[in-house]
Amino acid sequence: MSQLIVSGMRPTGKLHLGHYLGVIQNWVKLQHKYDSYFFVADWHALTTKYDKTENLKNDVLDVTIDWLAAGIDPEISTIYVQSHIPEIAELNVYLGMVTPQNWVERDPTLKDMAKILRTKEGQNSQISYGLMGYPVLMSADIMMMNANAVPVGVDQVAHIEITRDIARRFNNIYNTEFFNEPQPILNHCSLICGLDGNKMGKSFQNDIKISDTAEVTAKKVMTAITDRSRMRKTDLGHPDDCEVAFKYWKIFGSEQEVSIVRSECEKGERGCADCKRQLGAKINECLAQIREKRVYYENHIDEVKDILSEGDKKARKRAGEVIAQVRELVRMY
Ligand code: TRP
Repeated sequence: MSQLIVSGMRPTGKLHLGHYLGVIQNWVKLQHKYDSYFFVADWHALTTKYDKTENLKNDVLDVTIDWLAAGIDPEISTIYVQSHIPEIAELNVYLGMVTPQNWVERDPTLKDMAKILRTKEGQNSQISYGLMGYPVLMSADIMMMNANAVPVGVDQVAHIEITRDIARRFNNIYNTEFFNEPQPILNHCSLICGLDGNKMGKSFQNDIKISDTAEVTAKKVMTAITDRSRMRKTDLGHPDDCEVAFKYWKIFGSEQEVSIVRSECEKGERGCADCKRQLGAKINECLAQIREKRVYYENHIDEVKDILSEGDKKARKRAGEVIAQVRELVRMY
């Protein structure tokens, strides 16, 4: 029997290259090897944005379109929306009962989120009960499909640890081996930084989106930080001190291209502006197919909605089987 993976993403709007290279590309590969379930975590979006829901529906569709464009294949993977699977909310209740409060309080990712919230002024600076429940809800997402593994970025590994602990505790309490203890699957590709050298993020305005046009991408790439000590084209460059542009070359260029860039830069034969012009073209070349597909799905939104409702159905079937077992194990009436 093939192993099952589950993973999700919050609907934060159009996705950027950090999402694509860090997570989605991995899913695209893994879907051929595993029975794969990918969902849009719209309930998780509410943990911090319960008062900003006006774009939520659209964001769910945008994320889905990015996935489809990037190569998640609805013929082999199940793509669904978290809030369309009410069984997840029920499982969340059962798991919440067996989870000690200090497990969620210790969760490092949650601590970071809380810190960010606190530094933002306004009403949203409160940490809600729902946000405290983030790791339990995430465990419900994963255990709902009784997954064997969860492909995520490194930032999510602590959450998966809690899921394993909760699964083990549930099994102990109800004297069963029903739930698997899911393993994280990490992507070994190097993390892509933002155009300013910091972590790529939508709110930092340093990202390149999958959905950006070639023109926008080319313009953005021109703002990428290079070797700060280099003033003129003829100055000898230091590719290893080039904060962003050379790192992007290593991600998008062939081995041969990277070595040409390196030697021309070191010899002072390649200016940073020219280098970034070429780099922008290279990135656009790599993304051209994905972007073409994205435009297709944007123009066929009914097809996207059909894919989601098919996925909801398949996910609910599996969820129904699991929740029936859980009710029996807990000995509900
Ligand atoms: N916390 C994840 C993120 O911020 C999203 C998520 C929610 C998730 N539930 C999940 C990821 C279950 C993997 C499995 O990206």
